[in-house]
Amino acid sequence: MSSPENIHPTFGQLLGREAKEALLKQRGSVVWLYGLSGSGKSTLANALERRLHGEGVFTQVLDGDNIRSGLNRNLGFSDDDRRENIRRIAEVAKLFAGAGVVTIASFICPRNELRAMAREIVGQADFLEVYVECSFETCERRDVKGLYAKAKAGGVKQFTGRDSAFEPPEPREAAELILNTDEQGEDESIEQLYRAVHPRVALPNA
Ligand code: ADX
Repeated sequence: MSSPENIHPTFGQLLGREAKEALLKQRGSVVWLYGLSGSGKSTLANALERRLHGEGVFTQVLDGDNIRSGLNRNLGFSDDDRRENIRRIAEVAKLFAGAGVVTIASFICPRNELRAMAREIVGQADFLEVYVECSFETCERRDVKGLYAKAKAGGVKQFTGRDSAFEPPEPREAAELILNTDEQGEDESIEQLYRAVHPRVALPNA
């Protein structure tokens, strides 16, 4: 997209990222969790945040239902709205990471193209793509929010995995980490996630 007219960003004049990371004694980054509704993203995001926080790491979780009740309250679930949802979230995540915060994003983010866009916006070096894999059937069985039952009864339009497509990562290596919550228990998934994220938090010469 071309630069908007009469807009003069001052990012270059602001206090730099290094100064903020030095103050926080950590490296900012974005952990991008995605998967079907009910796959376990929020549980993993919250558990990771609590564990890192307990170790003195400054974090922020960005979560679908929260962002959609504020910043993105004007967006629905059409392809275009999901793209705009993810674009804004990626821009926000980039700002947080640039302020030295370990940012944990938790969204369905249903298409490869959307994950690629998020990675592009955030920047390759700061982006850890984590697919929270779980079959539609298991998510439907869990139905934590009652949305699967509602969708089956025709009460939720464009429901992901039902009337709106969810694409697993293609190739699978596009995701740096895949956590299969169908097959493994919560503790094991949290441990694997923590082990992938932890090395990225420390400053290079700390
Ligand atoms: S995304 O596809 O644009 O990435 P996002 O993660 O922000 O979705 O929002 C998903 C959340 O919105 C779900 O966890 C669920 O609670 C709620 N939701 C409401 N309607 C739908 C729908 N049609 N499809 C999926 N999730 C929905």
